[in-house]
Amino acid sequence: MDDDVAKTWADARNKIDRLRDGALVKIEALGKSDDLEKTRIEFLGKKSYIMGLIKLLGRLSAEERPEAGAKLNAIRTEIEVAIETKKKWLQHVEQDQMLQNENFDISLPSRLLGKGHFHPVAEVMDDLIEIFVELGFMVEEGPEVETDEFNFKMLNFPDDHPARDMQDTFYIGNGTRLMRTHTSPVQIHAMKKYQPPMSVIAPGRVYRCDSDVTHSPVFHQLEGFYIDKNVNFGHLKGTLELFVRHLYGDGVEVRFRPSFFPFTEPSAEIDISCVLCHGGGCRVCKETGWLEILGAGMIDPNVLSVMDINPEKWTGFAFGLGIERIAMLKYGIDDIRLLYENNIGFLQQF
Ligand code: DAH
Repeated sequence: MDDDVAKTWADARNKIDRLRDGALVKIEALGKSDDLEKTRIEFLGKKSYIMGLIKLLGRLSAEERPEAGAKLNAIRTEIEVAIETKKKWLQHVEQDQMLQNENFDISLPSRLLGKGHFHPVAEVMDDLIEIFVELGFMVEEGPEVETDEFNFKMLNFPDDHPARDMQDTFYIGNGTRLMRTHTSPVQIHAMKKYQPPMSVIAPGRVYRCDSDVTHSPVFHQLEGFYIDKNVNFGHLKGTLELFVRHLYGDGVEVRFRPSFFPFTEPSAEIDISCVLCHGGGCRVCKETGWLEILGAGMIDPNVLSVMDINPEKWTGFAFGLGIERIAMLKYGIDDIRLLYENNIGFLQQF
């Protein structure tokens, strides 16, 4: 048995509790994580007094060793726990200080992120499509570059007929092709593609050489038609009245006026009581109390025949409307060009 070792331990027994108390007080008083690590090394590092004693344990007498081992381990654990606890606490404090230094106010309302939305024309277009799809119409699209045949001839516009002047046409190249002036040619495309009965709507862009407060060279139409056995004018009236009520509510009156289109016979223009003055007369309805919103009629038997659909067996109605016009009425816009200038201040109102 090593006398020196026994002496060292006897000496340590007297000191060791005070050493522990000193360590705990020091740890408690620390204010920075960095200092904590230095203190850990001071008390529990390889060269520390306590670790030195632990290394001596093996050389103590068998009687003394258990008590000394238990004592030293307890002290080591106590100091370790104190350091861990303090470490967590200091992390909290330091995080708090960091947040305070960042100088932001979590009670400030957030900055609004600019959120986009659909263009009013797209919005109205989607609404109209939804109404007709609910009524059982299917959606077809046709080309925007057309031939005279589809845009006029097969729709029963005779060559050199003045009705062609109703629509100022953009011709392309040598004049064999043109930008479609209306969505009615999609009727012809659909009749080529499908057999009756059929109910189709065709939304899309159309082009006319025309520009003022109510006309834009590019605008949008929605075409619709229905071919079946025994379709009559009553079905047309019923469908369009239903559509108008969906769009403007029950308070609106609808009237049919005789009109002319080459591809329908008889033809009508459909007016609704002015949504702004309710029939009293204003600038928008030009003091008439009525607004024209649709062209329509029974599909001309000539059109059906050209498409090899027997007009003795099948009849149909058709209608067409301008999307911009509906949007302008809905939002009280008095100049169609506003819809195409992409002025963000204007568009953000919708
Ligand atoms: N295509 C006509 C135009 O652009 C609108 C129209 C009128 C379409 C009567 C139709 C219809 O289907 O039956 O002015």
